[in-house]
Amino acid sequence: MSKTDTNQKLIDLRKKSKLGGGEKRIAKQHEKGKMTARERLAVLLDSSSFHELESFVAQEPGVSGANEFDSVGNGVVTGYGQINGRKVFVYAQDFTVMGGSLGEMQSKKICRVMDLAAQNGAPIIGLIDSGGARIQEGVHSLMGYAEIFRRNTLYSGVVPQISLILGPCAGGAAYSPALTDFILMVEKHSYMFITGPNVIKEITGEEVDFENLGGAGVHMSISGVASLSAKSENESLSQCRTLLGYIPSNNMENPPCIAPSDDPFRVDTELDTIVPVDGTKPYNMHEVIRKVVDRNSFFEVQPTFATHAIVGFARFNGCSVGIVAQEPSALAGIIDIDASDKISRFVRFCDAFNIPLVTFVDSPGFLPGINQEHKGIIRHGAKILYAYAEATVPKISIVTRRAFGGAYVVMSSKFIGTDINYAWPTAEIAVMGAEGAVNIISRKEINDSEDPDAKRSELIQEYQEKYLTPYAAAKAGIIDEVILPSETRAKVISALSVIKEKQIQHPARKHGISPV
Ligand code: HXC
Repeated sequence: MSKTDTNQKLIDLRKKSKLGGGEKRIAKQHEKGKMTARERLAVLLDSSSFHELESFVAQEPGVSGANEFDSVGNGVVTGYGQINGRKVFVYAQDFTVMGGSLGEMQSKKICRVMDLAAQNGAPIIGLIDSGGARIQEGVHSLMGYAEIFRRNTLYSGVVPQISLILGPCAGGAAYSPALTDFILMVEKHSYMFITGPNVIKEITGEEVDFENLGGAGVHMSISGVASLSAKSENESLSQCRTLLGYIPSNNMENPPCIAPSDDPFRVDTELDTIVPVDGTKPYNMHEVIRKVVDRNSFFEVQPTFATHAIVGFARFNGCSVGIVAQEPSALAGIIDIDASDKISRFVRFCDAFNIPLVTFVDSPGFLPGINQEHKGIIRHGAKILYAYAEATVPKISIVTRRAFGGAYVVMSSKFIGTDINYAWPTAEIAVMGAEGAVNIISRKEINDSEDPDAKRSELIQEYQEKYLTPYAAAKAGIIDEVILPSETRAKVISALSVIKEKQIQHPARKHGISPV
Protein backbone atom coordinates (compact mmCIF):
# COMPACT_ATOMS: atom_id res chain seq x y z
CA MET A 1 0.00 0.00 0.00
CA SER A 2 1.41 3.42 -0.96
CA LYS A 3 1.54 6.43 1.35
CA THR A 4 -1.33 7.94 -0.61
CA ASP A 5 -3.37 4.78 -0.09
CA THR A 6 -2.81 4.74 3.66
CA ASN A 7 -3.78 8.40 3.92
CA GLN A 8 -6.84 7.73 1.78
CA LYS A 9 -7.78 4.85 4.10
CA LEU A 10 -7.75 7.24 7.07
CA ILE A 11 -9.84 9.78 5.14
CA ASP A 12 -12.38 7.06 4.27
CA LEU A 13 -12.49 5.77 7.84
CA ARG A 14 -13.04 9.28 9.15
CA LYS A 15 -15.85 9.81 6.69
CA LYS A 16 -17.53 6.58 7.80
CA SER A 17 -17.05 7.38 11.47
CA LYS A 18 -18.49 10.88 11.07
CA LEU A 19 -21.63 9.45 9.45
CA GLY A 20 -22.36 7.42 12.59
CA GLY A 21 -25.38 5.20 11.96
CA GLY A 22 -25.62 6.35 8.33
CA GLU A 23 -27.51 8.87 6.25
CA LYS A 24 -30.93 7.26 6.69
CA ARG A 25 -30.75 7.40 10.45
CA ILE A 26 -29.38 10.96 10.32
CA ALA A 27 -32.39 11.93 8.18
CA LYS A 28 -34.68 10.27 10.76
CA GLN A 29 -33.02 12.29 13.52
CA HIS A 30 -33.58 15.50 11.53
CA GLU A 31 -37.20 14.55 10.85
CA LYS A 32 -37.76 14.48 14.61
CA GLY A 33 -36.38 18.03 14.77
CA LYS A 34 -33.18 16.78 16.44
CA MET A 35 -29.58 17.53 15.55
CA THR A 36 -26.92 14.85 15.33
CA ALA A 37 -24.25 14.57 18.01
CA ARG A 38 -21.67 16.32 15.83
CA GLU A 39 -24.04 19.10 14.81
CA ARG A 40 -24.74 19.75 18.47
CA LEU A 41 -21.07 19.93 19.33
CA ALA A 42 -20.53 22.39 16.49
CA VAL A 43 -23.12 24.73 18.01
CA LEU A 44 -21.93 24.25 21.60
CA LEU A 45 -18.23 24.78 21.07
CA ASP A 46 -16.25 27.72 19.70
CA SER A 47 -15.86 27.45 15.96
CA SER A 48 -13.35 24.77 14.85
CA SER A 49 -12.23 24.14 18.44
CA PHE A 50 -13.47 20.53 18.72
CA HIS A 51 -10.92 17.72 18.76
CA GLU A 52 -12.35 14.24 18.76
CA LEU A 53 -10.88 11.32 20.71
CA GLU A 54 -11.39 7.61 20.18
CA SER A 55 -13.54 8.11 17.10
CA PHE A 56 -12.82 4.60 15.75
CA VAL A 57 -13.84 2.70 18.85
CA ALA A 58 -15.65 -0.39 17.61
CA GLN A 59 -18.93 -1.83 18.67
CA GLU A 60 -17.29 -4.67 20.55
CA PRO A 61 -13.95 -4.34 22.34
CA GLY A 62 -11.11 -5.02 19.89
CA VAL A 63 -13.39 -6.62 17.29
CA SER A 64 -13.36 -5.28 13.75
CA GLY A 65 -16.08 -5.83 11.21
CA ALA A 66 -18.56 -6.91 13.91
CA ASN A 67 -21.48 -5.26 12.14
CA GLU A 68 -22.51 -2.10 10.30
CA PHE A 69 -21.57 -0.02 13.34
CA ASP A 70 -17.94 -1.14 13.39
CA SER A 71 -15.53 1.73 14.15
CA VAL A 72 -18.10 4.52 14.19
CA GLY A 73 -17.44 5.48 17.78
CA ASN A 74 -19.86 3.23 19.65
CA GLY A 75 -22.76 5.67 19.82
CA VAL A 76 -20.91 8.52 21.44
CA VAL A 77 -18.71 11.35 20.18
CA THR A 78 -16.12 12.40 22.77
CA GLY A 79 -13.33 14.95 22.91
CA TYR A 80 -12.42 18.45 23.97
CA GLY A 81 -12.90 21.96 22.72
CA GLN A 82 -13.42 25.50 23.90
CA ILE A 83 -16.33 27.62 25.04
CA ASN A 84 -15.63 31.34 24.92
CA GLY A 85 -11.94 30.48 24.78
CA ARG A 86 -11.99 28.21 27.87
CA LYS A 87 -11.32 24.48 27.57
CA VAL A 88 -14.09 21.94 28.19
CA PHE A 89 -14.38 18.18 27.79
CA VAL A 90 -17.49 16.86 26.09
CA TYR A 91 -19.36 13.77 25.16
CA ALA A 92 -22.40 13.66 22.88
CA GLN A 93 -24.41 10.47 22.51
CA ASP A 94 -25.08 9.58 18.89
CA PHE A 95 -28.66 8.35 18.60
CA THR A 96 -28.03 7.14 15.06
CA VAL A 97 -25.82 4.33 16.40
CA MET A 98 -27.99 1.83 18.25
CA GLY A 99 -30.09 4.65 19.68
CA GLY A 100 -27.07 6.08 21.52
CA SER A 101 -27.44 3.16 23.92
CA LEU A 102 -24.63 2.65 26.40
CA GLY A 103 -22.46 -0.44 26.52
CA GLU A 104 -19.00 -1.19 27.85
CA MET A 105 -16.97 0.67 25.21
CA GLN A 106 -19.26 3.71 25.17
CA SER A 107 -18.86 3.91 28.92
CA LYS A 108 -15.07 3.66 28.60
CA LYS A 109 -15.06 6.56 26.14
CA ILE A 110 -17.22 8.72 28.42
CA CYS A 111 -15.15 7.84 31.51
CA ARG A 112 -11.98 8.77 29.67
CA VAL A 113 -13.13 12.33 28.95
CA MET A 114 -14.46 12.62 32.50
CA ASP A 115 -11.02 11.61 33.83
CA LEU A 116 -9.28 14.05 31.48
CA ALA A 117 -11.64 16.83 32.60
CA ALA A 118 -10.89 16.20 36.28
CA GLN A 119 -7.13 15.84 35.71
CA ASN A 120 -6.99 19.03 33.67
CA GLY A 121 -9.39 21.12 35.72
CA ALA A 122 -12.02 21.71 33.06
CA PRO A 123 -15.82 21.31 32.99
CA ILE A 124 -17.34 18.11 31.60
CA ILE A 125 -20.45 18.52 29.49
CA GLY A 126 -22.63 15.58 28.48
CA LEU A 127 -25.14 15.81 25.60
CA ILE A 128 -27.55 12.99 26.30
CA ASP A 129 -29.75 11.31 23.70
CA SER A 130 -29.92 7.60 24.40
CA GLY A 131 -32.10 4.52 24.65
CA GLY A 132 -30.29 3.68 27.91
CA ALA A 133 -28.52 0.45 28.71
CA ARG A 134 -27.54 -1.37 25.49
CA ILE A 135 -29.76 -4.40 25.71
CA GLN A 136 -27.39 -6.68 23.74
CA GLU A 137 -24.55 -6.05 26.18
CA GLY A 138 -26.49 -7.06 29.28
CA VAL A 139 -24.66 -6.55 32.54
CA HIS A 140 -21.67 -4.96 30.76
CA SER A 141 -23.78 -1.90 30.15
CA LEU A 142 -24.82 -1.78 33.82
CA MET A 143 -21.16 -1.97 34.77
CA GLY A 144 -20.52 0.89 32.34
CA TYR A 145 -23.16 3.08 33.98
CA ALA A 146 -21.72 2.35 37.42
CA GLU A 147 -18.28 3.53 36.24
CA ILE A 148 -19.84 6.81 35.07
CA PHE A 149 -21.86 7.33 38.26
CA ARG A 150 -18.72 6.77 40.36
CA ARG A 151 -16.89 9.46 38.43
CA ASN A 152 -19.87 11.83 38.57
CA THR A 153 -19.69 11.49 42.35
CA LEU A 154 -15.91 11.68 42.79
CA TYR A 155 -15.60 14.70 40.50
CA SER A 156 -18.57 16.49 42.10
CA GLY A 157 -17.23 19.77 43.46
CA VAL A 158 -13.95 19.27 41.58
CA VAL A 159 -14.98 20.35 38.08
CA PRO A 160 -18.39 21.64 36.98
CA GLN A 161 -20.54 18.93 35.41
CA ILE A 162 -23.37 19.88 33.08
CA SER A 163 -25.91 17.57 31.41
CA LEU A 164 -28.02 18.56 28.42
CA ILE A 165 -30.92 16.20 27.86
CA LEU A 166 -31.61 16.32 24.13
CA GLY A 167 -33.69 13.18 23.68
CA PRO A 168 -34.55 10.18 25.82
CA CYS A 169 -32.81 9.66 29.16
CA ALA A 170 -34.63 6.84 30.84
CA GLY A 171 -34.20 4.28 33.57
CA GLY A 172 -31.14 4.23 35.76
CA ALA A 173 -29.36 6.24 33.05
CA ALA A 174 -31.05 9.32 34.52
CA TYR A 175 -28.82 9.02 37.58
CA SER A 176 -25.77 10.32 35.76
CA PRO A 177 -27.36 13.72 35.02
CA ALA A 178 -28.90 13.62 38.49
CA LEU A 179 -25.40 13.53 39.95
CA THR A 180 -24.24 16.48 37.85
CA ASP A 181 -24.56 20.15 38.80
CA PHE A 182 -26.98 21.39 36.15
CA ILE A 183 -29.52 19.64 33.94
CA LEU A 184 -30.70 21.49 30.83
CA MET A 185 -33.74 20.22 28.94
CA VAL A 186 -35.55 21.08 25.71
CA GLU A 187 -39.33 21.54 25.79
CA LYS A 188 -41.36 18.75 24.12
CA HIS A 189 -38.14 17.23 22.92
CA SER A 190 -36.40 15.55 25.82
CA TYR A 191 -37.58 13.46 28.72
CA MET A 192 -36.23 11.80 31.84
CA PHE A 193 -37.82 9.17 34.00
CA ILE A 194 -36.89 6.11 36.01
CA THR A 195 -39.80 3.94 34.89
CA GLY A 196 -41.61 4.66 31.64
CA PRO A 197 -45.33 4.98 30.90
CA ASN A 198 -45.78 1.27 30.03
CA VAL A 199 -44.28 -0.03 33.25
CA ILE A 200 -46.21 2.53 35.27
CA LYS A 201 -49.45 1.42 33.63
CA GLU A 202 -48.66 -2.22 34.37
CA ILE A 203 -47.74 -1.62 38.01
CA THR A 204 -50.01 1.20 39.15
CA GLY A 205 -52.63 1.42 36.42
CA GLU A 206 -51.85 5.12 35.88
CA GLU A 207 -51.85 6.34 32.30
CA VAL A 208 -49.43 9.05 31.27
CA ASP A 209 -47.44 10.02 28.18
CA PHE A 210 -43.68 10.74 27.98
CA GLU A 211 -44.10 14.51 28.13
CA ASN A 212 -46.40 14.52 31.15
CA LEU A 213 -44.28 11.97 32.94
CA GLY A 214 -40.82 13.40 32.47
CA GLY A 215 -40.78 16.25 29.96
CA ALA A 216 -39.08 19.59 30.51
CA GLY A 217 -42.30 21.13 31.87
CA VAL A 218 -42.54 18.50 34.61
CA HIS A 219 -38.90 18.69 35.65
CA MET A 220 -38.80 22.49 35.54
CA SER A 221 -41.96 23.07 37.58
CA ILE A 222 -42.94 19.99 39.57
CA SER A 223 -40.00 17.69 40.32
CA GLY A 224 -37.21 20.28 40.39
CA VAL A 225 -34.92 17.85 38.57
CA ALA A 226 -34.05 20.28 35.75
CA SER A 227 -32.18 23.56 36.12
CA LEU A 228 -33.04 25.22 32.82
CA SER A 229 -35.27 24.55 29.84
CA ALA A 230 -35.23 25.89 26.30
CA LYS A 231 -37.57 25.96 23.34
CA SER A 232 -34.97 24.48 20.99
CA GLU A 233 -31.70 22.58 21.01
CA ASN A 234 -29.91 25.70 19.77
CA GLU A 235 -31.26 27.70 22.70
CA SER A 236 -30.30 24.97 25.17
CA LEU A 237 -26.73 24.80 23.84
CA SER A 238 -26.51 28.57 24.06
CA GLN A 239 -27.80 28.47 27.69
CA CYS A 240 -24.97 26.07 28.48
CA ARG A 241 -22.40 28.52 27.09
CA THR A 242 -23.92 31.38 29.09
CA LEU A 243 -24.02 29.32 32.29
CA LEU A 244 -20.34 28.42 31.99
CA GLY A 245 -19.50 32.11 31.76
CA TYR A 246 -20.39 32.48 35.46
CA ILE A 247 -18.50 29.44 36.71
CA PRO A 248 -14.80 28.78 37.23
CA SER A 249 -13.30 25.82 35.37
CA ASN A 250 -12.50 23.95 38.60
CA ASN A 251 -12.60 24.21 42.38
CA MET A 252 -9.11 25.74 42.63
CA GLU A 253 -9.98 28.74 40.48
CA ASN A 254 -11.96 31.85 41.24
CA PRO A 255 -15.08 32.53 39.19
CA PRO A 256 -14.50 34.48 36.00
CA CYS A 257 -14.64 38.27 35.93
CA ILE A 258 -15.40 40.17 32.76
CA ALA A 259 -14.70 43.82 31.99
CA PRO A 260 -17.36 45.73 33.99
CA SER A 261 -20.05 47.18 31.78
CA ASP A 262 -21.99 48.99 34.50
CA ASP A 263 -21.15 51.81 36.92
CA PRO A 264 -20.32 50.32 40.34
CA PHE A 265 -21.76 53.46 41.98
CA ARG A 266 -24.95 53.47 39.91
CA VAL A 267 -27.83 54.61 42.13
CA ASP A 268 -31.34 53.48 41.26
CA THR A 269 -33.65 55.66 43.34
CA GLU A 270 -36.66 53.54 42.38
CA LEU A 271 -35.32 51.00 44.86
CA ASP A 272 -36.04 53.44 47.70
CA THR A 273 -39.79 53.09 47.18
CA ILE A 274 -40.01 49.55 45.84
CA VAL A 275 -41.01 47.93 49.14
CA PRO A 276 -44.62 48.92 49.95
CA VAL A 277 -45.24 50.67 53.25
CA ASP A 278 -48.05 48.18 53.89
CA GLY A 279 -46.16 45.09 54.96
CA THR A 280 -48.85 42.75 53.62
CA LYS A 281 -48.43 44.04 50.04
CA PRO A 282 -46.06 42.15 47.77
CA TYR A 283 -43.37 43.56 45.50
CA ASN A 284 -41.13 41.93 42.99
CA MET A 285 -37.75 40.70 44.25
CA HIS A 286 -36.62 39.85 40.71
CA GLU A 287 -36.91 43.56 39.98
CA VAL A 288 -34.84 44.39 43.08
CA ILE A 289 -32.13 41.95 41.99
CA ARG A 290 -32.03 43.29 38.43
CA LYS A 291 -31.71 46.85 39.69
CA VAL A 292 -28.86 46.03 42.07
CA VAL A 293 -26.61 43.69 40.04
CA ASP A 294 -24.68 44.64 36.88
CA ARG A 295 -27.16 45.51 34.16
CA ASN A 296 -28.51 42.43 32.30
CA SER A 297 -26.27 40.07 34.26
CA PHE A 298 -28.89 38.13 36.24
CA PHE A 299 -29.11 34.53 35.00
CA GLU A 300 -31.76 32.65 36.93
CA VAL A 301 -31.59 28.91 37.53
CA GLN A 302 -34.73 26.81 38.14
CA PRO A 303 -36.91 29.85 37.40
CA THR A 304 -40.20 27.94 37.40
CA PHE A 305 -39.64 25.55 40.33
CA ALA A 306 -40.52 26.73 43.86
CA THR A 307 -40.94 30.23 42.48
CA HIS A 308 -41.14 31.72 46.00
CA ALA A 309 -37.38 31.11 46.18
CA ILE A 310 -34.93 32.63 43.71
CA VAL A 311 -31.48 31.30 42.84
CA GLY A 312 -29.17 32.30 40.03
CA PHE A 313 -25.94 33.92 38.96
CA ALA A 314 -25.20 37.58 38.44
CA ARG A 315 -22.23 39.91 38.27
CA PHE A 316 -21.12 42.76 40.48
CA ASN A 317 -18.56 45.01 38.84
CA GLY A 318 -17.93 42.25 36.28
CA CYS A 319 -17.40 39.37 38.74
CA SER A 320 -19.67 36.38 39.28
CA VAL A 321 -21.77 35.87 42.40
CA GLY A 322 -24.53 33.49 43.38
CA ILE A 323 -27.82 35.19 44.21
CA VAL A 324 -30.29 33.66 46.65
CA ALA A 325 -33.55 35.36 47.55
CA GLN A 326 -37.21 35.04 48.33
CA GLU A 327 -39.90 36.25 45.96
CA PRO A 328 -42.53 38.01 48.13
CA SER A 329 -44.99 38.06 45.23
CA ALA A 330 -45.09 34.21 45.18
CA LEU A 331 -46.53 32.59 48.32
CA ALA A 332 -45.23 35.63 50.23
CA GLY A 333 -41.69 34.23 50.01
CA ILE A 334 -42.43 31.39 52.41
CA ILE A 335 -39.85 28.64 52.82
CA ASP A 336 -41.17 25.15 52.14
CA ILE A 337 -39.56 21.81 51.29
CA ASP A 338 -39.02 22.61 47.62
CA ALA A 339 -37.59 26.06 48.37
CA SER A 340 -35.24 24.46 50.92
CA ASP A 341 -33.96 21.96 48.37
CA LYS A 342 -33.57 24.62 45.70
CA ILE A 343 -31.67 27.05 47.93
CA SER A 344 -29.43 24.56 49.72
CA ARG A 345 -28.28 22.85 46.55
CA PHE A 346 -27.41 26.14 44.91
CA VAL A 347 -25.55 27.43 47.98
CA ARG A 348 -23.46 24.24 48.07
CA PHE A 349 -22.64 24.55 44.38
CA CYS A 350 -21.47 28.15 44.82
CA ASP A 351 -19.40 27.23 47.86
CA ALA A 352 -17.75 24.31 46.07
CA PHE A 353 -16.70 26.61 43.22
CA ASN A 354 -15.63 29.70 45.17
CA ILE A 355 -18.56 31.81 44.02
CA PRO A 356 -19.50 34.50 46.60
CA LEU A 357 -23.09 34.49 47.81
CA VAL A 358 -25.37 37.52 47.98
CA THR A 359 -28.68 36.79 49.73
CA PHE A 360 -31.78 39.00 49.70
CA VAL A 361 -34.17 38.11 52.52
CA ASP A 362 -37.91 38.65 52.72
CA SER A 363 -39.67 35.67 54.24
CA PRO A 364 -42.41 35.25 56.83
CA GLY A 365 -40.92 31.87 57.82
CA PHE A 366 -41.41 28.18 57.13
CA LEU A 367 -44.67 26.95 55.62
CA PRO A 368 -46.98 25.58 58.31
CA GLY A 369 -49.04 22.45 57.59
CA ILE A 370 -49.40 18.75 58.24
CA ASN A 371 -48.22 17.87 54.74
CA GLN A 372 -44.99 19.83 55.11
CA GLU A 373 -44.29 18.45 58.59
CA HIS A 374 -45.00 14.88 57.51
CA LYS A 375 -42.85 15.21 54.40
CA GLY A 376 -39.94 16.38 56.55
CA ILE A 377 -39.73 20.17 56.47
CA ILE A 378 -37.43 19.76 59.48
CA ARG A 379 -34.75 17.84 57.61
CA HIS A 380 -35.25 19.77 54.36
CA GLY A 381 -35.14 23.17 56.05
CA ALA A 382 -32.02 22.07 57.93
CA LYS A 383 -30.26 21.72 54.57
CA ILE A 384 -30.31 25.49 54.10
CA LEU A 385 -28.74 26.00 57.51
CA TYR A 386 -26.14 23.36 56.80
CA ALA A 387 -25.29 24.80 53.41
CA TYR A 388 -24.87 28.38 54.61
CA ALA A 389 -23.07 27.46 57.82
CA GLU A 390 -20.63 25.23 55.93
CA ALA A 391 -20.00 27.69 53.08
CA THR A 392 -16.62 29.41 53.35
CA VAL A 393 -17.10 31.72 50.35
CA PRO A 394 -17.68 35.45 50.93
CA LYS A 395 -21.29 35.90 52.05
CA ILE A 396 -23.39 39.05 52.17
CA SER A 397 -27.03 39.34 53.17
CA ILE A 398 -29.57 42.11 52.73
CA VAL A 399 -32.87 41.96 54.64
CA THR A 400 -35.31 43.94 52.53
CA ARG A 401 -38.43 43.36 54.62
CA ARG A 402 -39.54 40.38 56.69
CA ALA A 403 -37.04 38.06 58.29
CA PHE A 404 -39.15 36.23 60.81
CA GLY A 405 -38.12 33.39 63.08
CA GLY A 406 -36.38 30.47 61.43
CA ALA A 407 -36.42 32.24 58.09
CA TYR A 408 -34.20 34.96 59.54
CA VAL A 409 -31.72 32.47 60.95
CA VAL A 410 -31.43 30.14 57.94
CA MET A 411 -31.22 32.83 55.29
CA SER A 412 -27.57 33.72 55.62
CA SER A 413 -27.84 35.34 59.05
CA LYS A 414 -24.80 36.78 60.79
CA PHE A 415 -24.48 34.03 63.35
CA ILE A 416 -24.42 31.17 60.90
CA GLY A 417 -21.38 32.81 59.41
CA THR A 418 -22.39 35.56 57.02
CA ASP A 419 -19.66 38.17 56.67
CA ILE A 420 -21.56 41.40 56.08
CA ASN A 421 -25.24 41.87 56.95
CA TYR A 422 -27.29 44.78 55.67
CA ALA A 423 -30.91 45.73 56.29
CA TRP A 424 -33.11 48.20 54.48
CA PRO A 425 -35.14 50.69 56.55
CA THR A 426 -38.21 48.55 55.76
CA ALA A 427 -36.66 45.46 57.39
CA GLU A 428 -38.65 43.63 60.04
CA ILE A 429 -36.43 41.21 61.90
CA ALA A 430 -38.28 39.43 64.69
CA VAL A 431 -39.33 36.08 66.07
CA MET A 432 -42.68 36.44 64.33
CA GLY A 433 -45.11 38.95 62.80
CA ALA A 434 -47.02 41.45 64.95
CA GLU A 435 -50.44 39.78 64.91
CA GLY A 436 -49.20 36.33 65.89
CA ALA A 437 -46.92 37.75 68.56
CA VAL A 438 -49.59 39.92 70.18
CA ASN A 439 -52.10 37.07 70.21
CA ILE A 440 -49.62 34.98 72.16
CA ILE A 441 -47.95 37.39 74.56
CA SER A 442 -50.93 39.70 75.24
CA ARG A 443 -53.89 37.31 75.03
CA LYS A 444 -54.99 37.94 78.62
CA GLU A 445 -54.63 41.70 78.30
CA ILE A 446 -56.71 41.70 75.09
CA ASN A 447 -59.44 39.45 76.52
CA ASP A 448 -59.65 41.48 79.73
CA SER A 449 -59.99 44.81 77.95
CA GLU A 450 -63.35 46.51 77.32
CA ASP A 451 -62.74 46.65 73.57
CA PRO A 452 -60.56 43.63 72.63
CA ASP A 453 -60.30 44.59 68.94
CA ALA A 454 -59.14 48.12 69.69
CA LYS A 455 -56.71 46.79 72.28
CA ARG A 456 -55.30 44.25 69.83
CA SER A 457 -54.75 46.96 67.20
CA GLU A 458 -53.05 49.17 69.75
CA LEU A 459 -50.75 46.36 70.88
CA ILE A 460 -49.97 45.36 67.28
CA GLN A 461 -48.92 48.92 66.55
CA GLU A 462 -46.76 49.00 69.68
CA TYR A 463 -45.11 45.70 68.70
CA GLN A 464 -44.49 46.95 65.17
CA GLU A 465 -42.86 50.12 66.40
CA LYS A 466 -40.77 48.33 68.99
CA TYR A 467 -39.69 45.17 67.18
CA LEU A 468 -40.49 45.36 63.46
CA THR A 469 -37.79 47.80 62.56
CA PRO A 470 -34.21 47.15 61.55
CA TYR A 471 -33.00 49.27 64.46
CA ALA A 472 -33.84 46.72 67.17
CA ALA A 473 -31.65 44.23 65.25
CA ALA A 474 -29.00 46.90 64.61
CA LYS A 475 -28.86 47.75 68.33
CA ALA A 476 -28.27 44.07 69.09
CA GLY A 477 -25.48 43.89 66.51
CA ILE A 478 -27.48 41.38 64.48
CA ILE A 479 -27.04 43.42 61.34
CA ASP A 480 -24.00 45.48 60.45
CA GLU A 481 -25.65 48.48 58.87
CA VAL A 482 -29.02 49.86 57.90
CA ILE A 483 -28.66 51.16 54.34
CA LEU A 484 -30.83 53.01 51.88
CA PRO A 485 -32.05 50.59 49.21
CA SER A 486 -30.47 52.76 46.52
CA GLU A 487 -27.08 52.36 48.23
CA THR A 488 -27.21 48.56 48.02
CA ARG A 489 -25.25 48.14 44.80
CA ALA A 490 -22.29 50.26 45.88
CA LYS A 491 -22.30 48.70 49.37
CA VAL A 492 -22.31 45.13 48.03
CA ILE A 493 -19.54 45.85 45.53
CA SER A 494 -17.42 47.43 48.24
CA ALA A 495 -18.10 44.59 50.71
CA LEU A 496 -17.27 41.94 48.10
CA SER A 497 -13.95 43.59 47.41
CA VAL A 498 -12.90 43.54 51.07
CA ILE A 499 -13.97 39.97 51.85
CA LYS A 500 -12.89 38.30 48.64
CA GLU A 501 -9.64 36.96 50.12
CA LYS A 502 -11.24 35.74 53.34
CA GLN A 503 -9.76 32.58 54.85
CA ILE A 504 -11.78 30.25 57.03
CA GLN A 505 -10.72 26.90 58.49
CA HIS A 506 -13.34 24.45 59.68
CA PRO A 507 -12.34 21.60 62.03
CA ALA A 508 -10.75 18.68 60.17
CA ARG A 509 -13.10 15.85 59.22
CA LYS A 510 -13.61 13.31 56.47
CA HIS A 511 -16.90 14.92 55.50
CA GLY A 512 -19.96 16.21 57.26
CA ILE A 513 -23.32 14.54 57.09
CA SER A 514 -25.63 17.02 55.45
CA PRO A 515 -29.31 16.35 56.13
CA VAL A 516 -30.94 14.87 53.01
C1 HXC B 1 -29.93 -1.26 22.02
C2 HXC B 1 -31.40 0.29 21.20
C3 HXC B 1 -31.79 0.62 22.51
C4 HXC B 1 -31.18 -0.07 23.60
C5 HXC B 1 -32.89 1.86 21.16
N1 HXC B 1 -32.11 1.07 20.40
N2 HXC B 1 -32.73 1.59 22.45
N3 HXC B 1 -30.47 -0.63 20.98
N4 HXC B 1 -30.26 -1.01 23.29
N5 HXC B 1 -31.50 0.22 24.87
C6 HXC B 1 -31.99 1.06 18.94
C7 HXC B 1 -33.24 0.56 18.24
O1 HXC B 1 -33.19 -0.84 18.11
C8 HXC B 1 -33.14 1.26 16.90
O2 HXC B 1 -32.21 0.58 16.08
C9 HXC B 1 -32.50 2.60 17.27
O3 HXC B 1 -31.87 2.41 18.52
C10 HXC B 1 -33.52 3.71 17.38
O4 HXC B 1 -34.58 3.27 18.23
P1 HXC B 1 -36.10 3.48 17.87
O5 HXC B 1 -36.89 2.64 18.82
O6 HXC B 1 -36.31 3.28 16.41
O7 HXC B 1 -36.26 5.03 18.17
P2 HXC B 1 -37.51 5.80 18.76
O8 HXC B 1 -38.76 5.35 18.07
O9 HXC B 1 -37.17 7.24 18.70
O10 HXC B 1 -37.61 5.34 20.29
C11 HXC B 1 -36.57 5.67 21.17
C12 HXC B 1 -36.77 4.90 22.51
C13 HXC B 1 -36.91 3.38 22.21
C14 HXC B 1 -38.01 5.42 23.20
C15 HXC B 1 -35.56 5.22 23.40
O11 HXC B 1 -35.86 3.00 21.34
C16 HXC B 1 -36.84 2.56 23.44
O12 HXC B 1 -37.84 2.45 24.18
N6 HXC B 1 -35.70 1.93 23.67
C17 HXC B 1 -35.49 1.06 24.80
C18 HXC B 1 -35.34 1.85 26.04
C19 HXC B 1 -35.01 0.99 27.23
O13 HXC B 1 -35.88 0.27 27.75
N7 HXC B 1 -33.74 1.02 27.62
C20 HXC B 1 -33.25 0.28 28.75
C21 HXC B 1 -33.58 1.15 29.96
S1 HXC B 1 -33.01 0.44 31.41
P3 HXC B 1 -32.21 0.68 14.50
O14 HXC B 1 -31.20 -0.30 14.06
O15 HXC B 1 -33.61 0.35 14.06
O16 HXC B 1 -31.83 2.08 14.15
C22 HXC B 1 -31.62 1.22 31.65
C23 HXC B 1 -30.93 0.73 32.87
C24 HXC B 1 -29.76 1.57 33.16
O17 HXC B 1 -31.19 2.03 30.93
C25 HXC B 1 -29.32 1.17 34.51
C26 HXC B 1 -28.18 2.00 34.98
C27 HXC B 1 -27.93 1.74 36.42
